[in-house]
Amino acid sequence: MKVFEPMKFKKMEIANRVGVAPMCTYMCLKKDGVAQDFHLTHYTTFAMGQPGFIIQEATSVNESGYISDYCLGIHQPRQREALKRVIDSVHAYPVKFGIQLNHAGAKTMKTGSRKISASALSEGVEEASLADINKIVSDFESAAKWARQCGYDFVEVHSAHGYLINQFLSPLTNKRTDAYGEDKGLLLQQVVEAVLKEFDGPVFVRLSGDEYSEQGRSIEDTKETVKRLDRLGVSLINMSSGGVAPVSMSVYPMYQVHLATQAKSVTGLPLATAGLITEREQIADIIDNEKADVVLLGRLMTRDPFFLMKWKFDLGLITKENTPNYLYRSLSAMK
Ligand SMILES: Cc1cc2nc3c(=O)[nH]c(=O)nc-3n(C[C@H](O)[C@H](O)[C@H](O)COP(=O)(O)O)c2cc1C
Repeated sequence: MKVFEPMKFKKMEIANRVGVAPMCTYMCLKKDGVAQDFHLTHYTTFAMGQPGFIIQEATSVNESGYISDYCLGIHQPRQREALKRVIDSVHAYPVKFGIQLNHAGAKTMKTGSRKISASALSEGVEEASLADINKIVSDFESAAKWARQCGYDFVEVHSAHGYLINQFLSPLTNKRTDAYGEDKGLLLQQVVEAVLKEFDGPVFVRLSGDEYSEQGRSIEDTKETVKRLDRLGVSLINMSSGGVAPVSMSVYPMYQVHLATQAKSVTGLPLATAGLITEREQIADIIDNEKADVVLLGRLMTRDPFFLMKWKFDLGLITKENTPNYLYRSLSAMK
């Protein structure tokens, strides 16, 4: 079955086509952005279920980029020390581990954090100056260097869900008249170039393929962004949607798959899809019929980290010989 076939991104090989979607856990309870024992256990538990890869939750590249008081950061030495422990623990398993680098922009809820965005459209939000923009690009560059030094296998740039880079991309939130307003993808391009300069492994980008607003970005705009990212040397587009405009969107099983499929048609760049994918048949359909190249599972993996193991067992891919005794005995007791 193609789901369990390996795939390569640059020199990185994933053992199967299912990954764990990035999901904030809001568990830095000391509000210092430092990973706790919880994070080590949480990500290692995912690794034990042996997905092809795991994308670590949105992690801030600097002081003002946190989504909440309880999110991870990578810009301080002790944050990196703690992240290294998590990475080493995950790497005890045959799973690739990447970090999602983020700046929350106007959506930061961290106490005392400056709220910057492309434009100052609501109270308390400041328009990013050119000095701010240069610093953000260089903070992503430093974060990519630190990600490499820490030992991550890949990096994902978060350019979706209405966070800072998405705020620049979207006509809903970018009303600038300078170069960053004329070319709304300029910040994304500069960030990706900076990250690629420092990180020699695969670089992924998460995009909101549809903003569900007439004035916002549509999948047609996203296709142009995908072409641009392909030219820059990105290895995968992680296709999501929404998060910019406060619109009500209807979600249903596999609701974002068509966005990945449409974007896949414009370049040879691999596409990931996520969103209410919970059944083996859905995953097999997406991969076998090339609707996307990899499937990301979010909440399902949290509640059932051994989902893939159970599937592999049923397919006969897990045997007494290739699996530790404790796990084989547990899986074979399923029926
Ligand atoms: C608790 C939670 C936290 C999330 N945090 C992030 C995040 O840090 N970065 C991101 O790109 N998406 C985030 N998402 C979105 C997920 O990556 C995923 O796209 C979404 O949960 C849909 O997939 P699912 O139905 O399999 O859970 C989050 C979702 C949840 C439920």
